[in-house]
Amino acid sequence: MQTPLFAIDNVNFRYTDGKALDALSLTIEAGERVALLGANGSGKSTLLRVLDALLFPESGDVRFCGELLTEDAFSEDEFAYAFRKRVGFVFQNSDAQLFSTTVFDEVAFGPLQLRLGAGEVRRRVAQTLERFNISPLSDRAPHQLSGGEKRKVALASVLVLDPDVLLLDEPTAGLDPRSQTQLMDMLDEWQHSSADRCAKTIVTATHDLHTLEDMAGRCLVMERGRVIASGSPGEILSDRDLLERGNLVHAHRHRSRHTHPHPGLHRPQV
Ligand SMILES: Nc1ncnc2c1ncn2[C@@H]1O[C@H](COP(=O)(O)OP(=O)(O)OP(=O)(O)O)[C@@H](O)[C@H]1O
Ligand SMILES: [Mg+2]
Repeated sequence: MQTPLFAIDNVNFRYTDGKALDALSLTIEAGERVALLGANGSGKSTLLRVLDALLFPESGDVRFCGELLTEDAFSEDEFAYAFRKRVGFVFQNSDAQLFSTTVFDEVAFGPLQLRLGAGEVRRRVAQTLERFNISPLSDRAPHQLSGGEKRKVALASVLVLDPDVLLLDEPTAGLDPRSQTQLMDMLDEWQHSSADRCAKTIVTATHDLHTLEDMAGRCLVMERGRVIASGSPGEILSDRDLLERGNLVHAHRHRSRHTHPHPGLHRPQV
């Protein structure tokens, strides 16, 4: 049997009070596209941080390609370097990710960390900005960009390294439909440009049911730090009770006083 890309076994994590991950076990295979769904506070971002080895569990094992992700392992430069080269993380809040003076420098930061030469870094950054249609932003200050532009720059600053695994925390939240499409195009462009498309793995925390089928082949629904359901986007989207339980849709009252759960927007009756 093939070793899973990620194997999480009986993981517990707490910040200060209350469990953020509660005896969580799951596996993710190389090439999968997995969506993490669930209400605010259900543990999606915490799980992504654990997968990215930004947080380490208080108990239980997290393995990447069979290797344990521990603080000790990451104290070894070679291990950390190899892992960071393969796994990229786009934060929920772009402001927490962007810190350089210009967009060009922002996108150059990762390649410089990976000890690529200055000429190679310049070439890669220019190519990445071009490829994702953000060259006009090159000299702009990241903190002065719009929310959607920031999100694109944050994604470009990770994709420039061409990771094998992309961890995305609510990539489309707060974006207008055109920016959402542009972001999805960036992801498509990245996946299709790979020699082996199947090698690319994407794990996305999201509340966005409209993009679910584009983003994921498998969905995991979280509640209080556990996975309470899993299935294809079609299976999850057709389970109204589950969607309500995960706060992915809401039941609300109409003037007619009928309670009406729905996953999308209401269209006025004409
Ligand atoms: N930095 C932190 N310090 C203390 N508690 C935290 C911290 N980050 C998250 N938590 C708590 O851990 C739990 C899980 O939070 P997490 O951010 O993983 O949820 P989430 O599913 O990503 O929610 P959202 O949909 O709002 O992004 C919540 O109870 C939250 O209050
Ligand atoms: Mg979150």
